[in-house]
Amino acid sequence: MRAVVTGGAGFIGSNLVDALIARGDEVTACDSLVAGRRENLAGALAAGGRLETIDVCDGAGLGRVFDELKPEVVFHLAAQVDVRRSVEDPAADARTNIEGTINALQAARTSGARRLVLASTGGAIYGDADTIPTPESAPERPLAPYGQAKLAAEGYCRMWSELCGLTTAALRLANVYGPRQDPAGEGGVVAIFCGRLRAGMPLLIYGDGSQTRDFVYVGDVVDAMLRAGDANGHRDQRNPAPPLNIGAGRETSVLQLAAACREVAGAPELPPPLHVRARPGEVHRSCLDAGAARAGLGWTASTPLWDGLAATYAALA
Ligand SMILES: NC(=O)c1ccc[n+]([C@@H]2O[C@H](COP(=O)([O-])OP(=O)(O)OC[C@H]3O[C@@H](n4cnc5c(N)ncnc54)[C@H](O)[C@@H]3O)[C@@H](O)[C@H]2O)c1
Repeated sequence: MRAVVTGGAGFIGSNLVDALIARGDEVTACDSLVAGRRENLAGALAAGGRLETIDVCDGAGLGRVFDELKPEVVFHLAAQVDVRRSVEDPAADARTNIEGTINALQAARTSGARRLVLASTGGAIYGDADTIPTPESAPERPLAPYGQAKLAAEGYCRMWSELCGLTTAALRLANVYGPRQDPAGEGGVVAIFCGRLRAGMPLLIYGDGSQTRDFVYVGDVVDAMLRAGDANGHRDQRNPAPPLNIGAGRETSVLQLAAACREVAGAPELPPPLHVRARPGEVHRSCLDAGAARAGLGWTASTPLWDGLAATYAALA
């Protein structure tokens, strides 16, 4: 299969590129390299994968690249992923996360692609959910422009499914962790914890650490994306496929995560985690019900947290 992965030089994207190449697909990563790194693709490029350095905000340029590549499936992961930055500059966030998605949909449609899979978000769309684990039927209450933009991007995907021959799937990811997540980046608490433990530094916990997240291993997320890309999708134009939650369905508090990371790192001699002031506006509990992905894609998160943490910590060596 010919596939394009936008955001393919990033954390999840480069893991997806590797998996596509491993099963024999012809893969091109399209990435502006604003956050992604060419080194993430070293193995893929050596194995015949390609990298096109392009900004998804350049609709005409993206169209030319897709016309040349003629992908059958497009995995659209390129995004402005920093929630705080989306609050500071919502218009810039929307340009990448909404307009960039529209450009990817247009380029996919005009180049004859069969399917587009969007990396959307669970926690940032549901906000402070009443039901935990949260099903897809829960109200959408984004607390920041990032979640609102992803919700809009999902809407455009649904619209393209309704109006064009392109079928789409939106996957609402939980908190993804694993090798290649940037320990110096925003939001990736597992990467940050593992990075600090590698450097012999104490962990920092915002507030009392009772806030929970649904940590899902990147290998499991890649598996969900492959399944979503291979699926035919709904061709019933009045009833396109709804977004699917992709999470482990297991709530882990930040305190529990800190203890598990210290155990994995074998660092019990380090001083205990330091508590700093809670961040205002942070969601307290977040956990996704992935029952629909189990039924629709035959997918479940199969990697135990401890195994995923061990792989993440080992990759930082
Ligand atoms: N990591 C998570 O926990 C998580 C959770 C929910 C959703 N997601 C979504 O998954 C996707 C991948 O996230 P990630 O964690 O791998 O982040 P990442 O920052 O590692 O990857 C994003 C990639 O997109 C590229 N990019 C950014 N703006 C671009 C632009 N204008 N044009 C082209 N490329 C651009 C970056 O260079 C980077 O390589 C994103 O869409 C994100 O919103 C991630």
